[in-house]
Amino acid sequence: MDHTQNPDTRTAPQPGDRIAVVVGSTRPTRICPGIAEWIRTELQQDSPLTYELLDLADIDLPLLDEPLKAALQQYEHEHTRQWSRTVSSYSGFVFVFPQYNWGYPAVLKNALDFLYREWHDKPAAVASYGTRGGNKGVAQLLGVLQGLHMRALDSHLELVITDADVDEDWQLKNIEATLHPYRDQTRAINEQMLEALQDDQQ
Ligand SMILES: Cc1cc2nc3c(=O)[nH]c(=O)nc-3n(C[C@H](O)[C@H](O)[C@H](O)COP(=O)(O)O)c2cc1C
Repeated sequence: MDHTQNPDTRTAPQPGDRIAVVVGSTRPTRICPGIAEWIRTELQQDSPLTYELLDLADIDLPLLDEPLKAALQQYEHEHTRQWSRTVSSYSGFVFVFPQYNWGYPAVLKNALDFLYREWHDKPAAVASYGTRGGNKGVAQLLGVLQGLHMRALDSHLELVITDADVDEDWQLKNIEATLHPYRDQTRAINEQMLEALQDDQQ
């Protein structure tokens, strides 16, 4: 059954469902996986939900190559069908990404654009990082999530990472020290994710 077509027939997500923490940078020297794993670990604390890393580098999609628009769900390529199954298997998403030139990474937009209905109604949180936190990337992504009919949570993260936090190779020297101030905000995302999923059951 296609649960995305009709909200009345959609199975309500249950606590214990899987939430993807999306690693939204795929650069070879990226710092995103460490940040996403710190966020995942904090979200998982005492949560009945299961938070899993979903690394776009592993998904390894080409630039959008489907002949038909995603809303039709008539996918020509197996990589799209696999991505569709993967996204459909999650009840919610936490998008972790760096700000790139006042926007968010192209690889993340590409991954979103491959699908349409699979994203609908899913709760979504955003977590950006940059020297000023990445608020411009957040604003852009929130607009896109609205276009995909996702339910953006009120809480989001804008993690400030400055030159003082990184070594000469621009790797985080001490993730815990840098991200510790965001612990309460991160836990709030889990609370809101739970509320959003429980709303589905009413
Ligand atoms: C293409 C590109 C654009 C960037 N633009 C910004 C920016 O607009 N604001 C900012 O604070 N940092 C910017 N940076 C610095 C990134 O925050 C920093 O390189 C960070 O490590 C990127 O995350 P990643 O290593 O996980 O890819 C940019 C970096 C790259 C590679």
